[in-house]
Amino acid sequence: MLSLVLGIESSCDETAAAVIKDGKTVLSNMVASQIEIHKEFGGVVPELASRKHVETIIPVIEDALAKAKVELTAIEGIAVTNGPGLIGSLMVGISTAKAISYALGIPFIGVDHLEAHISAAHLEYEMTFPFIGLVVSGGHTSLYLVNGYTDFKLLGKTRDDAAGEAFDKAAKFLGLSYPGGVEIDRISKEGNSSAITFPRPFITSSSFDFSFSGIKTALVYYLKKNPNFNEENLKDICASYQEAIVETLVEKTVNAALSSGVKSVVIAGGVACNSRLRELGKKRFEEEGISLFIPSPKYCTDNAAMIGALGFFKLNEGAYSELSLNPYSTSRPKYIRGRGFITN
Ligand code: KG4
Ligand code: ZN
Repeated sequence: MLSLVLGIESSCDETAAAVIKDGKTVLSNMVASQIEIHKEFGGVVPELASRKHVETIIPVIEDALAKAKVELTAIEGIAVTNGPGLIGSLMVGISTAKAISYALGIPFIGVDHLEAHISAAHLEYEMTFPFIGLVVSGGHTSLYLVNGYTDFKLLGKTRDDAAGEAFDKAAKFLGLSYPGGVEIDRISKEGNSSAITFPRPFITSSSFDFSFSGIKTALVYYLKKNPNFNEENLKDICASYQEAIVETLVEKTVNAALSSGVKSVVIAGGVACNSRLRELGKKRFEEEGISLFIPSPKYCTDNAAMIGALGFFKLNEGAYSELSLNPYSTSRPKYIRGRGFITN
């Protein structure tokens, strides 16, 4: 049984490293954010992201070891995100993990970023299986039935935009800064969420897939008709738009929990920081008699503690990756009517 795992995450615009003990205790959790670099472009620029990861990855790992008061030679296994994400960014984390693994003669394992987001729950809660896991991040909105620490069954995902993308793109249209989800959350607090009716796609559908591009288009049309909105209008637009996304996420997750008969649900990923999602989720799941677990914000946004946690359970099942491990980008499989998801 190995105990000390180094987690490495570099799938998008955060370079992160963490030292995890026994899959549940976080000895350190370091994140170097690139937000300031990408802000002026209104989104992540892949080439800039990979270059920054190259500069930052070693110092971040050194910081994580120092904070944990653990020597590199005491690390027993390494977990690294190998997808989905930006290929150049992922390559930096993967190459580093391979190099350390080879140098120390210890195993390493590539883990899925979305499954890791859900595994963040184990860092703070004692989960009982099975449970429903919803990952809501900048690039993904996916529902899973989680049967064990390493057993994830995908129930549905977005057919177009992710929830975080819908927030970030709306913020761009509204002239707000990046990342937009945080800004919309802040501004919405003073707005009226029933001022404007935005669509709630698939909310009553029996499918567990999502679609957020319609909400975004509805906002674009609304802004075309009402181009001269003032500060007060902006609050109502943000609150109404946020409510449509949040209600869709919560109701579809409630449906998934009820139809699977599970008694607990995890909501994770950057969008799980959203204050309205946390509030409405708490209320709705309480009404249904289902326990809702949402990790602390530092474990919801991209971090390496969640990677270390999932890696710990995989490594202890005897799983490991070969030095030939490659990254995969597939973030948003195409949906073709009659054929389902085409992943590559
Ligand atoms: O999980 P994450 O850190 O990175 C990805 O894997 O994508 O998620 C980032 C996303 C961004 O779209 C950001 O706007 C969104 O999470 N986000 C929020 C909030 N905080 C971060 N969205 C809504 N409300 C928030 N408070
Ligand atoms: Zn993420």
